[in-house]
Amino acid sequence: MSCQFGQLRALSNLSLTIQAGERVALIGASGAGKSTLLMLLNGSLIPTAGEIWALGQPLGQLSSQQRRQVQRQLGTIYQQQHLVANLSVIHNINAGHLGRWPLWKAAWSLVWPLEVDTAAAAMAQVGIAEKLYARTDRLSGGQQQRVAIARALVQNPAALLADEPIASVDPARAADIMSLLRHLCETTGKTLVVSLHDVAAARAYCDRILGLRAGQLLFDLPAADVTDNLTADLYRL
Ligand SMILES: Nc1ncnc2c1ncn2[C@@H]1O[C@H](COP(=O)(O)OP(=O)(O)OP(=O)(O)O)[C@@H](O)[C@H]1O
Ligand SMILES: [Mg+2]
Repeated sequence: MSCQFGQLRALSNLSLTIQAGERVALIGASGAGKSTLLMLLNGSLIPTAGEIWALGQPLGQLSSQQRRQVQRQLGTIYQQQHLVANLSVIHNINAGHLGRWPLWKAAWSLVWPLEVDTAAAAMAQVGIAEKLYARTDRLSGGQQQRVAIARALVQNPAALLADEPIASVDPARAADIMSLLRHLCETTGKTLVVSLHDVAAARAYCDRILGLRAGQLLFDLPAADVTDNLTADLYRL
């Protein structure tokens, strides 16, 4: 599979399989193609050559309705969290349903929060149940990251795709969020694919590491086999 933006080859000839329940880290320098790969995996981008299969479906061959059906089972946590700052947490979490809800329900949910129980359960899962009605911009960066995770969880997805979920939090929160993601996936059998700049976190919380360099797969190894030499190659200018 390859993905090109105009003249730029963001990913070249990648070929890989991720098994259900695996925890996979994507590492690589800025511009290596990590976010692009995540967007391909969740069907927001279609490769310019080759195919992506997700949950047994060829994403590029589906109608947009069929594709949305697959996408609902893929919970994505974005690099920019896409939370609406001046709304309360519960409204932001309910946005996780929008792919599933008819427009009237989505619109009504802005006035009066629906599915409070589901949202409350997701907030409990991410450890900040008491913040359900807080205004989102009054939460710390780490708490907002948890809300972003809770929003992905309300869909009860088969896989979580997270783009640099710990880029904007301090080291203690980072460890917290990574163990949370790992725990959520371990206990529910969800697949985790997470892009990280922090190689130590990739080693500590994932089982398999993909090293991307300038759009190519430099290595694909069990986390324990990723040596400092390999990662030095990855970031060499
Ligand atoms: N929509 C787009 N249009 C044009 N070029 C793009 C687009 N999205 C990404 N690119 C380019 O593709 C390459 C890979 O980008 P990508 O965002 O996947 O990198 P990344 O590994 O996630 O980097 P970072 O660590 O900085 O987030 C970059 O050169 C980027 O400029
Ligand atoms: Mg990125």
